[in-house]
Amino acid sequence: MEFPESFIDELVSRNEISDVVSDYVQLRRRGGNNLFGLCPFHSEKTPSFSVSTEKQIYYCFGCQKGGGVIHFIMEIEALRYTDAVHFLARRAGMTVPEGQEDKAAEHRSRLLRLHRDAARYYYAVLATPLGADAVAYLNQRGISKEMVKRFGLGAAPAGWGHLAEAMAKKGYSADELTAAGLVKKSRRDGVYDTFRNRLMFPVVDVRGNVIGFSGRILDEGTPKYLNSPDTMIFSKSRNLFGLNLAKKSKAGYLILAEGNIDVISLHQAGFDSAVASLGTSLTAEQGRLMAGYGKDVVIAYDADSAGINAAKRAIGILETAGLGVRVLRMEGAKDPDEFIKARGGDAFRTLLERSENHVAYRLLSMQQGYDLEQDEGRLGFLREATQLLAGLPNAPEREVYGRRVAEASGISFEAVMQEVTKERKRGERREKSKREREALRPAQRNQPSERAIRYENIVSAKAEEGVIRLLMRDPALCGKTDGLSEADFSSPFLGKAYAVIRRRIREGGSLTPDALAAELAPGELSHLMRIVQEPENLANGEKSLGDYIKKIETEKLKQSPAENLLDIYMKYRKDKGVEGEDARDES
Ligand code: GTP
Ligand code: MN
Repeated sequence: MEFPESFIDELVSRNEISDVVSDYVQLRRRGGNNLFGLCPFHSEKTPSFSVSTEKQIYYCFGCQKGGGVIHFIMEIEALRYTDAVHFLARRAGMTVPEGQEDKAAEHRSRLLRLHRDAARYYYAVLATPLGADAVAYLNQRGISKEMVKRFGLGAAPAGWGHLAEAMAKKGYSADELTAAGLVKKSRRDGVYDTFRNRLMFPVVDVRGNVIGFSGRILDEGTPKYLNSPDTMIFSKSRNLFGLNLAKKSKAGYLILAEGNIDVISLHQAGFDSAVASLGTSLTAEQGRLMAGYGKDVVIAYDADSAGINAAKRAIGILETAGLGVRVLRMEGAKDPDEFIKARGGDAFRTLLERSENHVAYRLLSMQQGYDLEQDEGRLGFLREATQLLAGLPNAPEREVYGRRVAEASGISFEAVMQEVTKERKRGERREKSKREREALRPAQRNQPSERAIRYENIVSAKAEEGVIRLLMRDPALCGKTDGLSEADFSSPFLGKAYAVIRRRIREGGSLTPDALAAELAPGELSHLMRIVQEPENLANGEKSLGDYIKKIETEKLKQSPAENLLDIYMKYRKDKGVEGEDARDES
């Protein structure tokens, strides 16, 4: 799926990186050619995300993500390479050359059609005897016909092959059904339905495509929910249940619930901006997705401790995405569905209106953990509250909530604010010494942050990194690497990167991150960027290269079987300058 290099070059030059990044991150100039901003890929308060207009790359010193403009779009829009290229082409008004990517597009559109047909099938089952249990369940949960229609709910029949058979009749192959996760391969060559005897919730993306399913069990069994696996068109962490409907709401805010049933209950009661994540805790991608459809979010998670903890996590994620966050407190019911059933929609609206800014919410739940009648309780509360206040980025907010803390604890406002100031200073010192400590932790630092590419042999890997760094900076050195092959590398990733780089140099190809993005996974490219950024003595590149290669060879020998010990010994003697003697004499 390669595009012509000349096309990629033009694409990159027409999508100036700081220009593209500025659509997502506020950048400020800070010395030389580098722009800085808050990293969109991890949560931070001081900018460590940099863009070099000269090199046309981005790099975050905090989470160590980095690459060129194509890679940036892959990461932030959660797109695969080909789609990121299309995205940027559209942005620059360019036409993508026709080619093999037609095949992938064809597969994708078949997969979408299959999901639509499967959703229609499950929906149709409700009207047949096979769907009787699911219909009874819908009635028991008080879900109206209108909601069934609006959400396209359906029933997966009990039995092993109903869907498989229906889809085969429509012309879908067993492979396509397996790729969609709708069937699984059985031991004897056949397939069986993944979803059986479940209430089916289609997951619909914001463009209106059915991209996956959640299936709820009809009784008390486990697992309660079964979700489609991630596929070419579906990702649990990058979609939200109900967003296709919620995005049309006039409410002006989104409601974030935990369960599918909650979302349906809320819509049924007129709260048509409710969404839920898909069986995982809320992700940063989902935060960004929501930010595209509203300014504010009200969290309406379950009232149990799991829900409260999940809400605390979600607050941070939603704030990072730039959303205003409020949190709804529900008493006397375990979740919005139960609350609405017991108290009605009007009571829920009152809860929504009273839902608090998340700072107030957190202060209040903190306060409940202390006995404020006692000195000890008051001091404990003050200590915890000042930490929260100290973390608030703007001063008026600190003041408003400082007053609340003062009132609640009976400690003077001035004393509270004095503590907050102290805590902020302490925080800055902590941050600084943390940075310094990290800089001094070689073993940790030397390990790639990408788990999939952990180093087995750090000494060799460092030398392997050195070889790669030198080649990237000075491709002419490629001529001096003939003795070193991919197989000599201790790290499979570095070996692969080495082979790719060498091949590109020989073919006269480009080594920019945008060119390499086609051949390396996003995490791999980030790691390569980190390697290239590290200091290197280029003045005597050839000598450094020789030293690195020697180190790799020595390390490789150390790992080899015992018969090679002699080689090591010979090499040792040679390096020490004891040449000419026969090593065997001494053994
Ligand atoms: P009720 O308890 O019937 O009201 O259903 P609910 O839709 O509110 O679900 P619940 O509160 O138990 O769970 C909230 C969400 O967590 C669900 O919508 C699912 O997305 C997810 N979830 C719950 N149980 C499971 C499970 O067993 N497996 C997976 N993958 N996700 C689950
Ligand atoms: Mn629930």
